[in-house]
Amino acid sequence: MNASTRSLVPAAAPVSGLKPRHFLLRSRAQLTPVAALRPRAGLGESSHPPAMRPPIPSLLPAGIRLAAAGLLAGAGLAAAPTRTPELTEGPFYTFNPNNTLPALPPGDRDNDLTRRSGGAAPAKGESFLLSGVVRDLDGRPVPGVTVELWQTDDGGAYYHSGDSRADRRDRDFQFYGESVSDAQGRYSFRTVQPGLYTGRIRHFHFKVKQGGTAVLTSQFIFEAERAQFARDGVTSRLSGAALEALVLSPQRGTDSAGQPAWLARKDIVIDPAARSRGSREKSRGREP
Ligand SMILES: [Fe+2]
Repeated sequence: MNASTRSLVPAAAPVSGLKPRHFLLRSRAQLTPVAALRPRAGLGESSHPPAMRPPIPSLLPAGIRLAAAGLLAGAGLAAAPTRTPELTEGPFYTFNPNNTLPALPPGDRDNDLTRRSGGAAPAKGESFLLSGVVRDLDGRPVPGVTVELWQTDDGGAYYHSGDSRADRRDRDFQFYGESVSDAQGRYSFRTVQPGLYTGRIRHFHFKVKQGGTAVLTSQFIFEAERAQFARDGVTSRLSGAALEALVLSPQRGTDSAGQPAWLARKDIVIDPAARSRGSREKSRGREP
């Protein structure tokens, strides 16, 4: 099912039988593990001020909301959000013209990358639930934009003919997905932790499109590899708030079916008037 499908499924629906959907955002039950695992859930990863946060009242118990709001107000955190920085698209964007693999069918472009349309088996790897809010430079949620996610499978292969590992790829993995931000700007994906390949730190690629135009191309990286950020050919030029805007701090938790999963939240701040450089970059073979 493609990105135009925005409807949310009933919260009690089994994870394995439905796609697409907003995984973390539909039910309190799915969000609870995040809050439980992370005392500052809803506040910690993003640099956004409290007034610009997602609808916290729907995500956190009242006591935590009040405490969080007080802490942030006391800290004077009222600055504008940090725009999510651009990073290279890389050579293996699923839809670049150099990819001669069969085009992914519409049914394999939804926000559950762990299952192929009609597939019997789930993808290999550790389940990973990624979600957040797309915001503009004033911190306002941006509904109706498409967040594209593409990544390696558990073995470090992309769905791209230019990747020498492509013929060994996990045939049960979707490699690419789309999530259309809802009325509150929320996006979400169910996927697996991206596998490593030589020359790069672990990362997700993502792109944000508004009205079919790419306004941001970038990559999420992982807190656990912070010691390698400065040596990575793509992330080494970033520092400070720009770098932190891309760092995920996944926590162990469970999905709505009670199965183990990594949970990570990260807001994406776009300039809707911008045009992403990513789609204009030439593919140069292997990253970086
Ligand atoms: Fe990559």
